[in-house]
Amino acid sequence: MTSRILLTGGAGYIGSHTHVALVAAGHDVVILDNFANAQRTVPERLEQITGKRVTLVEGDVRDADTLAKLFARHEIDAVVHFAALKAVGESMARPLAYFDVNIGGLSTLLRAMDNAGCRRLVFSSSATVYGIPDEAPTPETAPFRAMNPYGQTKITGEQMLGWLQAANPEWAVGILRYFNPAGAHGSALIGEDPRDIPNNLMPFVAKVALGELPRVSVFGNDYDTADGTGVRDYIHVEDLARGHVLSLEKLLSTRQGHIVNLGTGRGYSVLEVIAAYQRATNRDIPYQITDRRPGDVPIYVARADRAVEVLGFRTEKGLDEMCASSWKWVSGLAGKA
Ligand code: NAD
Ligand code: UD1
Repeated sequence: MTSRILLTGGAGYIGSHTHVALVAAGHDVVILDNFANAQRTVPERLEQITGKRVTLVEGDVRDADTLAKLFARHEIDAVVHFAALKAVGESMARPLAYFDVNIGGLSTLLRAMDNAGCRRLVFSSSATVYGIPDEAPTPETAPFRAMNPYGQTKITGEQMLGWLQAANPEWAVGILRYFNPAGAHGSALIGEDPRDIPNNLMPFVAKVALGELPRVSVFGNDYDTADGTGVRDYIHVEDLARGHVLSLEKLLSTRQGHIVNLGTGRGYSVLEVIAAYQRATNRDIPYQITDRRPGDVPIYVARADRAVEVLGFRTEKGLDEMCASSWKWVSGLAGKA
């Protein structure tokens, strides 16, 4: 059945890939984005990929009037809420901006949805809600631990949504805790495009492979992991996008809320990522071992069985495909610069 889905932040990295997956699954999509962290070319790129017109509302998720008009104009069946600020370091320096966009924006959106009688929502959460977890792989039952204002906003958001569902059973919310999204769409028309020097590993490695940065700093090799470097559960952004389609379809067909990790259940170390990127590009990727990054987590790996049971979600693409698609995307960008 075709549904009409609103994607807040739909021009961003994960939102744009989810747009493609939703259109492929036969749904109509409306994007709301203020382009605070997205390229203006994304909507036309989405049209190139899907062959369908993009319905875009340019605006801010904190703006109640924009939302009221949007819900009056388009009959929305469900929302995926991506729009947020997401840089951990920046959140330490500018916590108020994070409270405003991530918590204020969510609150304004929920009010507008409730007024419009649209009460199905998928929420972008993060493994960061677990802080430094006691167990790896980490199950959804692990306790919340805020390590920084960004993580706090995801915990607060999840808690708000829990209270809302408790108050009104008409609300059904899918909370998706992403592990480490990586890679790009196979067409190389959309991907992650960090404006400054990237904080995250794979975009940084990509810039070293391109020759734009001299070497990767490996943040510590004295962790209690096989090679001493940090381990993460990298998930291909196209797999992640598919997880949203399954979550939405579950909410629309059953009205049952869920909280699930989206990861592969398998971890890779920093050195394994560098080696995989080297294989994918056939380029030398110099690195040096440096001090640990303050606040870093030794191992983040998802317990991935609940996503299988509840959503029937299984990842299909591995680290090599993440590296190859990332490279196709960034080398195309560099070619056009
Ligand atoms: P992104 O920055 O690429 O996408 C966010 C989008 O929201 C951008 O297009 C931006 O322009 C838009 N936006 C920001 N503020 C807005 C506002 N006030 N009104 C309207 N639009 C606004 O980030 P992403 O990586 O695609 O992340 C999407 C969501 O997933 C975020 O909620 C993020 O916290 C969460 N998440 C991301 C990761 C990751 O590693 N990328 C991991 C876990 C969770
Ligand atoms: C970071 C965020 C987390 C967010 C996630 C996905 C922090 C502390 N945490 O997590 O909240 O959910 O991104 O967006 O920023 N590494 C290097 N050299 C680098 C970059 C990273 O060695 O230049 C290492 C890190 O120490 C880590 C691994 O690579 O072991 C992955 O790092 P990163 O991509 O930043 O992701 P997270 O640390 O998982």
